[in-house]
Amino acid sequence: MTKFYLTNAIAYTNAGPHIGHLLEAIQGDALTRYHRLQEHDTRFLVGTDEHGTKMSATAKEKGVTPQALADENSEIFRDLHVKFNCANDDFIRTTDDLHKRGAQKLWKMIDAAGKFYEKEYEGLYCSGCEAFVVKKDLVEGNCPNHARPPELLKETNIFFKLSEYTDVLREKIESNDFVIKPQSRRNEILSFLKEGLHDVSFSRPKSSLAWGVDVPGRDDQVMYVWGDALSNYLTALGFADDDALVEQYWPADVHLVGKDITRFHCLIWPAMLLAAGLEMPKAVYAHGFITSEGQKMSKSIGNVVDPFEILEEWGVDPVRYFLLREIPTGDDGDFSKERFAVVYKDELQNTIGNLVRRVVAMTIKYFDGVTPEGNDDLKQPIADAWSGYESSFEDFNIKKAIEHCLDLARVGNSYVDDNKPWELAKTDMEALKPVLANLIALCTNVGYMLQAIIPESAEKILEQVTGETVTLGEQLFPHKE
Ligand code: MSP
Repeated sequence: MTKFYLTNAIAYTNAGPHIGHLLEAIQGDALTRYHRLQEHDTRFLVGTDEHGTKMSATAKEKGVTPQALADENSEIFRDLHVKFNCANDDFIRTTDDLHKRGAQKLWKMIDAAGKFYEKEYEGLYCSGCEAFVVKKDLVEGNCPNHARPPELLKETNIFFKLSEYTDVLREKIESNDFVIKPQSRRNEILSFLKEGLHDVSFSRPKSSLAWGVDVPGRDDQVMYVWGDALSNYLTALGFADDDALVEQYWPADVHLVGKDITRFHCLIWPAMLLAAGLEMPKAVYAHGFITSEGQKMSKSIGNVVDPFEILEEWGVDPVRYFLLREIPTGDDGDFSKERFAVVYKDELQNTIGNLVRRVVAMTIKYFDGVTPEGNDDLKQPIADAWSGYESSFEDFNIKKAIEHCLDLARVGNSYVDDNKPWELAKTDMEALKPVLANLIALCTNVGYMLQAIIPESAEKILEQVTGETVTLGEQLFPHKE
């Protein structure tokens, strides 16, 4: 059986989740559900990234321990996945003992290969990025991602020989042995590789940062938070002490991450694995950033969208649908209340909800709910929708996959309008039979496609149209004020 191991980025626990985190959770979940529908042996990992400078500093500001802060926020991330119906198999925390031991095992393998060395280093560190940054990338002295100045650090660090991996990574990416989607991100990584990779600081002295995983054999250093965090994809499989899941699922098929952290996943992580003599992941898919009402989300603007609030307002499936349908899958997109209401009404209520309701109601009215015999009228559009849907999913374009499903629903609506079943019912019951049967088949296929997108609603559609007799259930997408 084909296996499919998908991971999402693990979120920092210095704060709770916002809608950007939710976008990634839902995209990962849709990919997972799609692969399960393809009957792949699918494993989906999510979790939280709990070490590093940002965590340590936020905990200090709040007057709590980093562990207490991590415990509190990790629980909220876990809850986010539960509330939004995410089908993850596991939830890793980097403060778990299993993770720490696994990260140390990987460290030792890289060390044994001679890929670490120690040096005195002076550099600019952005705690937002949890990375050293170079002067030429700053904008008016500020980190372009976090709009604040990095801190000058001078310390003894252990370095990872990343520079040795420039050529092999370029070859793997160019040959598509290592796939990066979308194309824009692949190009970005390739042009970055053209300049050649530099070795990267991989540890911090405990005297400046104590909150991390201990470097094996050293009592004065903790691991660089990204080195620790990236290992999670392997440590969650029980890498520390059990090979079963590692053998079953490694290498990862897709790491799904945001565009801001593709470099870590396309360069540092594969190089770490190669250094340790392990297999590289097969692909990295990068999604874009979500803005709120046209602007970057920020606490100071006050436009941060709280996933739990919109859940309360709209319900799970409409939020899932909006994020997957409205935000271009590998690109940036916007969350706006006005647009949400339009998508809800036009697509969920009218195109999908009303179609199913009308078709089911007419099948009950004219045939006591027993679906008659169909013909080939709608076979082609149904087959076309499936092939478009599947190729879009394979190409990491969930938005386009939904469009194929939606187009099929539109075909259904036009077929109703063209054939006017209510008139046929008066004049030609024989001709009415295939019309309604074809429509039931179309609705069934729409329901199957929606299983990866809005699973609860898809089940409700399928319950209504696939039983021995069709049944009119509750209104799928009720009217909202
Ligand atoms: N902890 C690191 C990831 C380590 S993976 C080994 C991290 N955490 S994060 O909390 O800042 O981000 C988690 C994920 O959410 C990342 O993939 C990031 O790109 C994504 N997003 C954060 N803000 C986002 C938006 N506004 N929009 C969409 N996704 C965004 O990075």
